[in-house]
Amino acid sequence: MLEAEQLKVKVRDFWNENPCGTKFAQIEVGTKEFFAAIEKHRYESEWHIPEMAEFPSWKGKKVLEVGCGLGTDAIQFARAGASYTGIDLTPRSIELVEKRFQQENLLGNFQIADGENLPFPDNHFDLVYSHGVLHHTPDTQKAINEVHRVIKPGGKALIMLYHRNSYNYYGNIMFFRRLGAQILKYSWGPSLVNLLTKEDINALNRLQNDMKKNPQHFFSKEEFLNQNTDGAGNPLAKVYSRKEASLLFSRFSQVNTEVRFLNKRWIPLLGKLLPRAIESPIAKIWGWHLWIIGNK
Ligand SMILES: C[S@@+](CC[C@H](N)C(=O)[O-])C[C@H]1O[C@@H](n2cnc3c(N)ncnc32)[C@H](O)[C@@H]1O
Repeated sequence: MLEAEQLKVKVRDFWNENPCGTKFAQIEVGTKEFFAAIEKHRYESEWHIPEMAEFPSWKGKKVLEVGCGLGTDAIQFARAGASYTGIDLTPRSIELVEKRFQQENLLGNFQIADGENLPFPDNHFDLVYSHGVLHHTPDTQKAINEVHRVIKPGGKALIMLYHRNSYNYYGNIMFFRRLGAQILKYSWGPSLVNLLTKEDINALNRLQNDMKKNPQHFFSKEEFLNQNTDGAGNPLAKVYSRKEASLLFSRFSQVNTEVRFLNKRWIPLLGKLLPRAIESPIAKIWGWHLWIIGNK
């Protein structure tokens, strides 16, 4: 099997075992209460998402979401009256999103599929939306070319990728977390990190083993980023500057970028105290979420 294919299998297995966001609700996965708790948490901490996605404006339009995960944004498009299609690499996400739509008696089309090979004809959707997905796929450029292909002329892409020039990348991940990772050198390290962060203890033990086996690889920028964005064991995460991201969208006739989300829980001491009036302008420069808006 080719290297990229092997990596894709690891990506699929990781997300199938850890459906995105489940750690934010300690309630039985798949229940109405679970989905309600996930939704509440998402839009309280990432309050910019509805502002960027403009869910009500897609009423009656054909929307494709690439990497729908648990379907929290999916349900907003459907409630707003969009004709919604969601794909995800993992059977687990598709199972959960289908359940969620059934609970609300809403219609949607769902498929297990790969964003790098979309199973849809050319010029088909008014909007292709993807939040926090395409930086986890091995060939991000191929996936964005696929997004472009399936959008109707005059249609729009709204894609969120992780932002390199952000507090989260340079401050939290590359400074504080690298410093903190030294704790894993000690036998009691995984238990302490588990206590502080609620990160899965088995994943932390595996991480400790990896660090001991090959510290050079463990502390390399790429591998450190993989392990410190979406949980220990994540095989792939990438970051982009505005310029790098715009280049990925060069097939689009017009491209704009917007930056949001300060990830306040990773700002020691001050994070929780920051009022939105201060958080918002900082997030627009050094935020973690880089939104790319492409018009075909
Ligand atoms: C961080 S989660 C984001 C989920 C959701 N969009 C959200 O914002 O909550 C990443 C999701 O992308 C999916 N994914 C990763 N690579 C993919 C690919 N090549 N094609 C389709 N889905 C993919 C994963 O299975 C996972 O559900």
